[in-house]
Parts: sequence; structure tokens; C-alpha cells
Amino acid sequence: MDAPARLAARVDDIEPFHVMEVQTAARALEAAGRDVVHMEIGEPDFPTPQPVLDAAQRAIAGGHLHYTSALGLPELREAIARHYAEHYRVEVAPERVIVTAGSSAALLLVMALSVDRDDEVLLADPGYPCNRHFVRVLEGRPVGIPVGPETRYQLTADLVDRNWRDPTRGVLIASPSNPTGTTVPHDEMREIAAVVARRGGTLIVDEIYLGLTYGEAPGSVLEFAHDAFVVSSFSKYFNMTGWRLGWIVAPERHVRNLEKLAQNLYISPAAPSQRAALACFEPATAEIVEQRRSAFEARRDFLVPALRDLGFGVPIMPSGGFFVYADCSRFSDDSERFCRQVLEGAAVAFTPGIDFGVHRARQHVRLAYTIDERRLAEGVSRLRGLLR
Ligand SMILES: Cc1ncc(COP(=O)(O)O)c(C=O)c1O
Repeated sequence: MDAPARLAARVDDIEPFHVMEVQTAARALEAAGRDVVHMEIGEPDFPTPQPVLDAAQRAIAGGHLHYTSALGLPELREAIARHYAEHYRVEVAPERVIVTAGSSAALLLVMALSVDRDDEVLLADPGYPCNRHFVRVLEGRPVGIPVGPETRYQLTADLVDRNWRDPTRGVLIASPSNPTGTTVPHDEMREIAAVVARRGGTLIVDEIYLGLTYGEAPGSVLEFAHDAFVVSSFSKYFNMTGWRLGWIVAPERHVRNLEKLAQNLYISPAAPSQRAALACFEPATAEIVEQRRSAFEARRDFLVPALRDLGFGVPIMPSGGFFVYADCSRFSDDSERFCRQVLEGAAVAFTPGIDFGVHRARQHVRLAYTIDERRLAEGVSRLRGLLR
């Protein structure tokens, strides 16, 4: 018999998405004839905007399907740079924009650029789970810092400073965050940037949900932190998850090294996706995605008070993305079991906190408002039936 292949130690440290188990169980219920309200899914329910689909079809018909530069199509880099000027009042040179295979590849490239073996990267706990895995894959050490409502579930300058140690190389912040939907206030971000600069570290800000900000003007860290790495994506605001397209805005002196890494890791982002994404910056697309942003905001305004009324704790109103991170300790001290019970008892699917870290993870669940208001209302009414 063959000896079992020896796997790299890192594989054991990478956890699967628990939400996938929720989804599998939900699909099994559906196969058995139940109608499930899906609030576990972290992608927009809206289809890709029609102008983007049209542009993709033109690109395919025209045969524009070869590798592009590893940095992306020049015209797309220019369009992204213009987007910063028009939306966020920030001048970004197109040469600083690197188009990537989703913000996932963007995060991996920035980590590959800055993390060596045993280097530490500070992250909020709860936070987006892949981040700690990217650090681990590169033999670095992710350091989760427990955060709660007192800091809007986000890192602060003080937390960054107090947790900084000799091996710390940088900080990664998502604002708005997945799973909490909360943002780092602009003044706080400015102070975080100052602490990281004083410490000689790297500040990485994931702004993938910045376009989906509600009730306040969205602001990019690029307004004041010229040395920060900003990671973003076409996935969420532009409803293009499956097209696998994102970008980095990097300090100019690092672009060449990021290009080298991208060339070697995946050669270039997908050509048809890039040509399609050019249409994201046309007025017709802008109108569509802005309407959808308003729809997300209306769903949030319905869901958060309804959850509070049911007895979930949502101490901070989420101001972006499409997630509510709710304290479920009134109902259970094991969010994984609670999610199973709710799925079986009410056919409503959402995600246990353990997908996002360890800090009070068993007392929290994440609900995604990536379904329309009618289905949200149905979900809330089923929860009311089960929990009261
Ligand atoms: C905070 C955050 N960052 C990055 C990503 C990765 O997205 P993509 O690779 O589709 O751009 C996600 C996806 O859910 C996310 O929630």
C-alpha cells in the first residue's frame, strides 16, 4: 500500500467555511421540499448590470481573450483611478492601480509582498476569515484582537499601538467590515495610519464594501494615508462576484514588486472580465448600482429593528455592506447549534459567529440581507414564530 502523502503543516491550520455546512444543510432541506429563507449568503442577489454583460459579450465576440499585463488593462486602471477622484475626492495615479483576480488575489499579493515567516499581522476578531489564512499560508502569524461594540467592532489606534510587538509587520482592517458591517470613523483611521507609520509597519485597508455605505459619506483611507495599501473589488458594489476581479491601490514604489508577484502567481487577471468591467464606470451602470445600494439600505433599515425586537443584540447600527452581526446569547450560548436549530425549526439559514474568529463567536450569528424585503419579512416572521 502507498504511504499517505505528507501534507504541509499549514493545511491543518486552514479552516473550511462553516457557512458552507449551513448551505449544504439548507440545500438538503430544499431537496426535501422545504422553502428556505437564505440569509447566509455573502454576495449580492442582484444580477450583473446589463451594460457590463453587454460589454462582456462584445469582448468575447471581438476575440479579446488573451493574457493582459499582470497589472491589468491600462484603460481599466485609468477608469478605477478616475472613480476615486469622482466618488471619494482622492487623486490616485493610474500607475498605482493593480487589477487583480478579485480582492482575494489582491489580499494575497499584498501579504506576499509584506509578510515573512513568523511576522505578525494584527486583525480584528471578529473579521473576514480568509485574512488570517492568507497570513498563515505565508508562514506569518495572524494576531486576532478581540473587538466589540465599544469600538464599533473595529480596531482603534490605541488597540493597534498596545498590541504592537517586535514581530508585528502590519495591520489589516476591513471598513465596512464583514461580518459586522461597521466602519472605522475617519478620524480614528487617520490615527491608526499615524500609529502604523510611527511603528514603521504596513497598513492594509480592505475597502471592498466602501461603495455600499449608508447614511454617511464613504471616505477612503487614501485621502490621508498615501503609504497604505487599499484592496477593493468589483464583486460587491458592482455585483460581479463570479467574474473574479478586484484591485489594489499601492504606494508607487511597490508596484513593480507586486507586478512581479502577480506575473508569477497567476499571469494576469481574466481578460473578458476586465473588458466587461470597463462598463462599470458608464453612467447607465452607475444608476443601476446606486439604486441597488438604496435597496440594501432599505433592507438594513427593516432588518435591524426587527432583529432587535425579536431579542437579538445589535448595539451598533451597521453602516455598510450587507451584514448584521447579532448577539444571540439570549437564545443560545452555542451559535453553531442555534443556527442548526433555526434552520431545522424555521427553515431560515444564517451563519454562526465561529466563521469569523473566536471572540464571543459562540454568542453571535451573521445575517446577510442579500434577499429582497418580502423574503426578509418572511424570515423575520418565521423567527418570531420559533423564538417567542
Ligand atoms: C471583507 C472581504 N474581503 C474580501 C472578500 C473577497 O472578495 P472577492 O475576492 O470576491 O473580491 C470578501 C468576500 O466576501 C470580503 O467579505
